[in-house]
Formats: sequence, C-alpha cells, structure tokens
Amino acid sequence: MLNDTSIVILSAGLGTRMRSRTAKVLHRAGGMTLVEHVVRTALQLTAPERVLAVVGYQAAQVRQALAGTSIRFAFQAEQRGTGDAVAVCRDQLQPHSGKLLVLLGDCPLLSAETLRALCRHHEQSSVAATLITTTLEDPSGYGRILHDAGGRVSAIVEHRAATPEQLAINEINAGIYCFDSALLWKHIGEIQPNNPAAEYYLTDIIEIFRRAGHGVASFHLDDPGEVLGINTRLELSAVDRIFRQRKTTELMLAGVTIEKPETVTIDAEVNIGVDTVIEPFVQILGNSSIGENCRIGACSILRDAGLGEGVQVLPFSFIEDSQLDESSRVGPFSRLRMQSRLASGAIIGNFVELKKTQVGAGSKAQHLSYLGDSRIGAGANIGAGTITCNYDGAKKHPTAIGDNAFIGSNATLVAPIDIGGGAYVAAGSVITEAVPEDALALGRSRQTNKPEWAAKRKAANAAAAAPRER
Ligand code: UD1
Ligand code: CA
Repeated sequence: MLNDTSIVILSAGLGTRMRSRTAKVLHRAGGMTLVEHVVRTALQLTAPERVLAVVGYQAAQVRQALAGTSIRFAFQAEQRGTGDAVAVCRDQLQPHSGKLLVLLGDCPLLSAETLRALCRHHEQSSVAATLITTTLEDPSGYGRILHDAGGRVSAIVEHRAATPEQLAINEINAGIYCFDSALLWKHIGEIQPNNPAAEYYLTDIIEIFRRAGHGVASFHLDDPGEVLGINTRLELSAVDRIFRQRKTTELMLAGVTIEKPETVTIDAEVNIGVDTVIEPFVQILGNSSIGENCRIGACSILRDAGLGEGVQVLPFSFIEDSQLDESSRVGPFSRLRMQSRLASGAIIGNFVELKKTQVGAGSKAQHLSYLGDSRIGAGANIGAGTITCNYDGAKKHPTAIGDNAFIGSNATLVAPIDIGGGAYVAAGSVITEAVPEDALALGRSRQTNKPEWAAKRKAANAAAAAPRER
C-alpha cells in the first residue's frame, strides 16, 4: 500500500465517440464496467478513502456501479475537460501533500504493478510530474509527447491541436500521471481553455510546470497493451478480448484445459479447479465457481453457478444461480435456474428445466420435464415428460417427491402435492391428491379394448366401396 498517495479517477465524461446514451465508463469489458476495473486497480494501491472518482455524466449510475467499494466521489457538473475534472477534487483531497495519481476511467487494462513502478520512478526522479508514455504504430487520437533539445519532456500536444509534424510523433501520452500534490494544486489554476475544443486540458500542466522551472519525467512502457484507452466500440471490443485472453491464459497456466480459448468467455472472478475441461464457445460468468475434474460442454452458459468436483455439463446447457454437487450431470440442453440444486450423482437430461428445485443424490430426470418449486429425495426417477404444475395463475405451489419414488412418463403433478417415498405414479397420470409412501397412484381413466373393432371397420369400409354385382 502506498500510504502517502491519493488517487483520482476521471470518469465524468459521456464519451461522444462511443455513440451511446450510456456513459462510456459504464460500458463493460471483461465482464465488468470499465470504471470498476480502474477502481479495483486503485484499491490494490491505496485505502478506499484516498480514492476519488470524478463523476458527472450519469453520475448516479456511475456511483451505483461502484457502490460497495467505499471510495469517495467528486462531482464535475459540466464536462469542461480533464484539467477541470482534476480541479474539482481540490477540496476533497486536503491536505495537499504526498503524491497524487491520476487515472482514467476509460483505461481499464492498467495494472497495479505498473502504477507502483510509475510511483517509484517518480520518487527517484524528484520531479513535479511523471507521466506514462508509450509508442504506438497508430497514435491517432492520443496526445503526442514533445521533447526539448535536452531530450526531456517539454509538453503534450493533443491530436486535435497538433501540427502535421507533431502528428507524425509516435510517442503518446497514456493519460496516467503521478503528481507531486503540492505543486499540482499550486499550478492547476493556470490551465486555460485555449485550444480548438475550448477545454481545460490536464495535459497543459506539463508545459506549465516546465515554464515554472519544475522537472517532468516520462515513464515509457515498451508494451502499450496496458494503456490502451477506450474511445470507440471497436476499442471496447479489443479490450474485452484482452481481458478474456488474460483470464483464459491464467486458468490454462493454473491447470485448466480450455479448447479454442479464443471462443470462450470467462469473467474475472470465476474460479476453476485443475483438470477441468472447458469446451469451445462456453461462457462462465459472474461469481461462478467450478471444482476439479469437471467438463463444461460446448456452448453452455453458466452464471453464478457452483459446481463441485467431477461435474459433467453436456453441451448447450444454461445454468444460472444454481448448485451442482460432485459427480452430478446435466445436459445436453438443460436449463437450471433460481437456486436449484443437484445433490451428488444426480442426473438432469435433455430439455429438462429446473426452477427452485432440489434434486436428491442419484435421482434422475433424463428427458423433457419441467420441475419447479420442487424438492425431490434421493434415488428417485422422474419419467420423461413429467410436469410439475406449480402455478395456479396467482401463486406458486410446492411439490415434494420422496426418496426412491418413481414417476411414470408424462405425469402431471398438480401442486401443492406430496408424493411419498417409494411410491409409483403411473405413466400419463394427472395427480391432484397426495400419494402415500409405497403406493401406486393411477390418475387416468381405465383403458378399454374393443376386440376386432378395427378389422370390422375395414371390412365395412371395403364393402361400401365395392362395385355392385349385377
Ligand atoms: C486524454 C488525454 C490524451 C491522452 C488520452 C489517453 C487530455 C486533454 N488528453 O485524451 O493526451 O493521450 O487521454 O487515453 O487529457 N473526463 C472527465 N471530465 C471531463 C473530460 C474527461 O471526467 O471534463 C474523463 C472521461 O470520462 C475519460 C477521461 O477523462 O474517462 C479521458 O477523457 P477523454 O475525453 O477520453 O480524453 P482523450 O481525448 O482520450
Ligand atoms: Ca480517452
């Protein structure tokens, strides 16, 4: 932790180039809003009360996205530029001593290690400001770094204000700075909006420092990857891809097999145990956690799902907010949602939906069922096409099925209903009354056979159609 350092995160702008009604920093990459990434990085460096996010456009929504981090906020009523955005923090950052890091809410890939290195570099150079620079093949959109005859940074010129010669400069300003707080607050008022955009550019502080006789250092990153800013949706998708790649790489190095990782989407918080295999086009989102030796079948989506060891998810399954204990199996084409839970060894097969349903150890529902608000014991067999009628149009009602019960195919269980342990329900039954333990319930009309009926009809039809004999 850097205990003499405060951090300002600029996140008040709309981000016109996104062509969105949503503030740029609220767009998502790597499963999180851009500004959340930056705040998480900041919190690795300093205490939450020393982190200040500058909000303005959609301030309430940005605060909402960051609720629970206990950082502080400064409000920039009008987005008059990055220089103004820092200036509005002045009163909330007393005392004006130590270091001040300025981060951008639209630059989410930056790591805490790089920021620590920036701070060390700053301390060693005893200057008023140290800025991160990098060299880009295509520097368009970024501020360019100007050097004096001695090779020291003398100014930053914004793309929009640059001359053709300056536009040819490939060394760019990443927009990330470490300032000497006292000097920043002393000079920030000198920034003027004298540029084509009539904005207060924070970048002008560099020239101001130099004119006042203060040193400015640059901290050059050879790998520009971390400081890619997001201004357009194209850049958003490029950054998303980098986050996804980071996560799959980390998991593979930790012992998870990922087939065609470029097709797989795994959120940052997800944990996966060793020797688990992730097939192509899988998405594992939110707070999901997956044990060892599992297999997640192609095109499955898991959100806030918990899987024990050795769980098999066959392709095209959708598991949301549900728990699968060890050695259970679902899919292909299963849907589990709203706190459903499979005990160990349970099997849920194709076209089976579970909603708020607990399935006991070793129980099976292999085909074509809807099981809602149900509690199923261990060792039960739920036949193909079983439906729990849990909704009467106004209320939801529970179904209980005891251990080792056998529900015949195409049974309709009208809830609230209780099927005792070991009981049988005949195929095709509509069950509206409780079934006692070990009983057989038949809820359908008795079959009657009419012998020779079909043969007689055929004969009658044939006789009617035959030509009359003379
Ligand atoms: C800025 C830098 C540029 C640098 C680039 C790196 C300036 C003038 N330019 O340009 O040199 O190469 O970042 O990505 O600083 N913001 C506010 N209030 C405002 C304006 C902006 O909070 O009034 C916030 C935005 O929400 C955004 C961040 O500051 O998160 C950067 O603003 P943006 O307009 O994207 O700056 P760039 O033009 O990219
Ligand atoms: Ca930007």
